[in-house]
Amino acid sequence: MREWLPLLIVGAVIGVFSTVFIIAYALIKDKKEAIGFDRNMKDGELAKRLLRYARPYVLNFVIVGILMVFAISNEIISPLIVAKIQRIIASEGFTIPPLIVAVCVYASILIMALACSYFQAIILQKTGQKIISAMREDLFTHIESLSHSQLNNIPVGKLVTRVTNDTNGISMMFTNIIVNLTKNCFVIIGVLIAMLCINYMLTLMVLCFVPFIVLFTVIFRKFSRKAHRKVKDGTTDINTFLSENLSGMKVIQIFNREDSKMDEFSAKNRKLEKARRGQMFVFSIFRPTVYMLYVASVLCLFFLGCKGYIDGWRVLGQTVTADVLVAFYMYIQRFFNPIQTLAEQFNWLQSAFASAEKIFSILDMKPEVVDEEDAIELNEIRGEIEFRNVWFSYIPNEWVLKGVSFKVEAKQTVAFVGSTGSGKTTILSLLCRNYDIQSGEILVDGINIRKIKISSLRKHFGQMLQDVFLFSGTIRSNITLREESYTDEEIMEVCRYVNADKLIAKLSGGLDEEVRERGNNFSAGERQLISFARTLIHRPEVMILDEATANIDTETEVLIQDSLDKMMNVGTMLMVAHRLSTIQKADNIIVLSHGEILEQGTHDELLKRRGSYYNLYTLQYMKESAQKA
Ligand SMILES: Nc1ncnc2c1ncn2[C@@H]1O[C@H](COP(=O)(O)OP(=O)(O)O)[C@@H](O)[C@H]1O
Ligand SMILES: [Mg+2]
Repeated sequence: MREWLPLLIVGAVIGVFSTVFIIAYALIKDKKEAIGFDRNMKDGELAKRLLRYARPYVLNFVIVGILMVFAISNEIISPLIVAKIQRIIASEGFTIPPLIVAVCVYASILIMALACSYFQAIILQKTGQKIISAMREDLFTHIESLSHSQLNNIPVGKLVTRVTNDTNGISMMFTNIIVNLTKNCFVIIGVLIAMLCINYMLTLMVLCFVPFIVLFTVIFRKFSRKAHRKVKDGTTDINTFLSENLSGMKVIQIFNREDSKMDEFSAKNRKLEKARRGQMFVFSIFRPTVYMLYVASVLCLFFLGCKGYIDGWRVLGQTVTADVLVAFYMYIQRFFNPIQTLAEQFNWLQSAFASAEKIFSILDMKPEVVDEEDAIELNEIRGEIEFRNVWFSYIPNEWVLKGVSFKVEAKQTVAFVGSTGSGKTTILSLLCRNYDIQSGEILVDGINIRKIKISSLRKHFGQMLQDVFLFSGTIRSNITLREESYTDEEIMEVCRYVNADKLIAKLSGGLDEEVRERGNNFSAGERQLISFARTLIHRPEVMILDEATANIDTETEVLIQDSLDKMMNVGTMLMVAHRLSTIQKADNIIVLSHGEILEQGTHDELLKRRGSYYNLYTLQYMKESAQKA
């Protein structure tokens, strides 16, 4: 009995660990979120869609497969060679030459295996990055095709996470996980076969540890999934928070909200930190535990091996000798390692699938505003616009436009007037089909805009909005929007037209002056002038101005007013302006209230009617005279 004591001790330690883990496993709250990655798509479907991206690189994967075979055979053959070396050294008539041969064989196999894994890694990285960049491009193109209302519904930070983090997760899958997973499976099988060939009994001993590895792995998976999900949620959370608050940083500073925002941020940051620590903790328990099993099995190997050697055990013609022990010592490590990483890799695979699902769920969002099948291309338009009994709501049943009808003849200028929230911006954005209307018709040149290809429709519209978005780049790239065909002369001509030439002349870099993110190195008025140039250079037949003249200093306003007067003769113009003086020259003024048209007519007609326009006008007129006085 006493001589079996070491085995008993090993068994007792493993038993205690298993019991503790099982109790911990049973105690953890079995919430649904802790179990899975909350997936709706089947693994098979996801794998099929992922493989579609990998298909162009089949050849690369075949090469990797061949290289992998070398790597696997190295794992299996090298212990045999080491055992052989041991036999040579221990043999009675020991001479150096056979030893040198054996060592050379061992070394060359090792070098070959290293070279194989080097090339394998290079090929995989290249392929993986290509696959991922294709995926990122698809994702970006798709996001571009989403309608305004769909984009409003997804926080920008979430989209950023999809395009960056989630694609990275998938890249890991192609560069690392799939290959290692396959390799590990084959190594486990190969090592098992090799061990069986050498010694049944010792193989059986090694296999005794497998159920424990499986048990620990199952437990580990549950914990690690939970930890992983927390990390993912935390990352998305922080990205969303950052992208919103970095854009709104000025507001935060103006309102002195730095401290409270900082508190909010550090709460989220701490949450992520805790989640990451939790994840590390799970791994830091799992890896040593499996290592403990490995050490225990090596101990058992030495114990049983030596005992078998001394007692001269013989099972089915196999004996235990020193070289068998050496080979087994190496095999055990080659057996445990892949099993341990297998569990982790399955986990990464799961998380890559979860990322894939998130990406595909965005790719699966059907763009709401799409071309109809029989949509036509419009090369030129006159610029006639008509709304026929248009009903529209952003949120079901909360009508923003209630039966709006009006007609704009070609080259006319029409102005919309009404209090904030009356639906002016909505009318203008419906024209370009940023949203689809629920009922009624919008006609351009007598053609329903649903029957016109969206790209060809938007080509004819130039929109100038109150808050101009400038991209980082140069003045030139912001005016031409990276369309190369415009010459400097053409650009300057447009700039002169909208009175932006003096602004550009003032800049040291001229057209190549740098524009920083969102154009924050220019004033609102300057940005507005650049946006006028941007719109006009594309020669739109219909121009849309939404409060483009609000918040602008008087000096720039004179310039803008002048360029507006010029623009009025170029094409159809629909405008919203708070200052009623800017719209007096309009051919038609439409007065809106709560999504309905109250009255319409020219400035003089409306004044004569003494309706709501008259009231608005007198109010503003009185205010302005009071200011002047
Ligand atoms: N993206 C949106 N989602 C939901 N409601 C919106 C959206 N945009 C505007 N609204 C609502 O539609 C109404 C009209 O808005 P808008 O057309 O912007 O008015 P304005 O006349 O001031 O330009 C407002 O009550 C506003 O709350
Ligand atoms: Mg508006």
